[in-house]
Amino acid sequence: MANQTDYNDFLHKHRDVFRRFPLELVHGIPLMEPIAQQWAPIENFQARPDDLLLSTYPKAGTTWIQEIVDLVLNGGDVEKARRAPVYIRIPFLEICSPPPVPSGVSILVDTPSPRVIKTHLPFQLVPKSFWDQKCKVIYVARNAKDNLVSYFFFDQMNVTQPDPGPWDGYVKKFMEGKLAWGSWYDHVRSYWDEKGKHRILYLFYEDMKEDLAREVRRVKDFLEVDLPEDALQKIVHHASFQTMKKNPMTNYETVPNAIFDKTKGRFMRKGEVGDWKNYFTVAQREEFDADYRRKMEGTTLRFRDVL
Ligand code: A3P
Repeated sequence: MANQTDYNDFLHKHRDVFRRFPLELVHGIPLMEPIAQQWAPIENFQARPDDLLLSTYPKAGTTWIQEIVDLVLNGGDVEKARRAPVYIRIPFLEICSPPPVPSGVSILVDTPSPRVIKTHLPFQLVPKSFWDQKCKVIYVARNAKDNLVSYFFFDQMNVTQPDPGPWDGYVKKFMEGKLAWGSWYDHVRSYWDEKGKHRILYLFYEDMKEDLAREVRRVKDFLEVDLPEDALQKIVHHASFQTMKKNPMTNYETVPNAIFDKTKGRFMRKGEVGDWKNYFTVAQREEFDADYRRKMEGTTLRFRDVL
């Protein structure tokens, strides 16, 4: 695809292939049907040693870290970051739609190195070649309740995933690991457990909200990039919620309504920590927290201010 306008026109032209795809299990993990049906090329994906993988559970801050990494790798050049929407700059490894829409893998095969790649795959489904090639991985985790609230609103406007249904049932589906990409609990725990054995930088959404400059410094150190202080401050400004919300290259407003229905919500919704308090009833919170303690037993992984 020559450029972003062509790509969005292409998606618009083929909008009829999109619908609320059901989930299908792949090695026990629920994934959108087109992904499950084209699983082999994903599993066999050939990583290159200089690939950088950005991994998250959906709605944990993927777009945020994508924009930050693109800026860090380009020395804080905000004009360069405007060259294309973030989903074109950093392809999504496992995304698949029915033909003729190209899959993430087919786009990545033609992407020159060094590649930055987005994934939501849980650790055990990440193609083995990433570990064989000792690729660097940046993982962003977000506290369970805010992650869940964000996913609930996203599933209303992302009309390629199952209808979220009412809030109460959605909370249960999250607790049971029945949403696309499976269990949040297993996702955050497995990368945490593996981070000592692989080159994984584990970040928290809440830390990024607290002090973005500090977390951008951690990213640039991990990527071994020189970044003058003024460039770093530029990144902090450019990657703020308000700036990214207004930026058509990061706010997903360019995606056709057949995929993200903007009449049902906005991708850049609130960008806050603790928004869950506006949605959980006391009973829901008690049930959720008791279950959380059971599921998170035995891990040293801690989220701040969440119970
Ligand atoms: P909310 O729905 O809580 O607003 P992802 O990119 O993984 O899909 O995550 C999207 C969530 O990250 C949304 O959360 C979105 O608003 C939030 N987000 C995106 N950019 C952000 C930023 N610069 N600062 C804070 N939150 C951001």
